[in-house]
Amino acid sequence: MTPLSPTPPSAAPWKVLLVDDYPENIGVLESFLADEPYEILKATNGGEAIDLIRTQGPDIVLLDVMMPIMDGFQVCRAAKLDPRTALMPIVLVTALDSMEDKIKGIDAGADDFLTKPVNPLELKARVASLLRIRKLVTQLDGAENVIRALARAVEAKDSYTEKHTERVSKYSVKLGRASGLAGQDLLNLELGAQIHDIGKIGVSDAVLNKPGKLEDLEFKIIMTHPMVGFEICRPLATLSRVVASVRHHHERYDGKGYPDGLVGEGIPLEARIVAIADAFDAMTSDRPYRKGMPVETAVDILSKGAGTQWDATLVTRFLDLIKAGEIP
Ligand SMILES: [Fe+2]
Repeated sequence: MTPLSPTPPSAAPWKVLLVDDYPENIGVLESFLADEPYEILKATNGGEAIDLIRTQGPDIVLLDVMMPIMDGFQVCRAAKLDPRTALMPIVLVTALDSMEDKIKGIDAGADDFLTKPVNPLELKARVASLLRIRKLVTQLDGAENVIRALARAVEAKDSYTEKHTERVSKYSVKLGRASGLAGQDLLNLELGAQIHDIGKIGVSDAVLNKPGKLEDLEFKIIMTHPMVGFEICRPLATLSRVVASVRHHHERYDGKGYPDGLVGEGIPLEARIVAIADAFDAMTSDRPYRKGMPVETAVDILSKGAGTQWDATLVTRFLDLIKAGEIP
């Protein structure tokens, strides 16, 4: 039989934070979880709970709603607003099965509810199921960090592109926001822009840092980087929109780009955005074989390539951001 509770991704046990202003209630919950391999943390008021959430990073919180000074809704809202703890599951323990409390709880970002008196089997099952999701989220986070680290390694390898990805990411987010992207879509765009050239890890330093013009073969080698990057990022299949920026940032609006020769809006929006941000930064920053161009020259080139190399609507928006002083 498979155990009820999932194993944590690291050797340390799962941390479960129990919050209730009555220590007896904490004792009851603790006794229900006694045969589970959890490390139990306890808080008897909202302030203490927030402190422990920030310093101890629990994996799940069982939170009483009715507490003096700072109630469970307030604690929940505070934890969900902090990006460091937004993904930590919170179960609200409500005294009554009141619809009003549930709606308030959902509004505060609670992940689940338990009604007092708490049934031990229900408690164990809820905690185990939220920890299973927690495990997946943590692993995903880990995979994302590896990819980011790899992207930084590429930047270090290519000394002339120092801070390039940081700027491309900044410009992309501005253009993305101006194009109506928000929330998770904007975060995906930001990550995609940061790692768009990750495939250059597969291009030799001699080619990457060559001063002067590239030979045909060398250029062909450089052209492999979107597909190499795509292969590296394939395990992040759940972030398919991120992968799109990596694979398609060298496509052209007229279909003459690479690697897939996609045309117009067939190119994912994120990739069309990154292509413009990437080109602008490449033109305006210094390279081994030339000085960076003045912004006006880059603006001119972008305007001339609107509708052929790049999406014309996006170019107009990008130039508006330059005029408004938002970029660079
Ligand atoms: Fe690239």
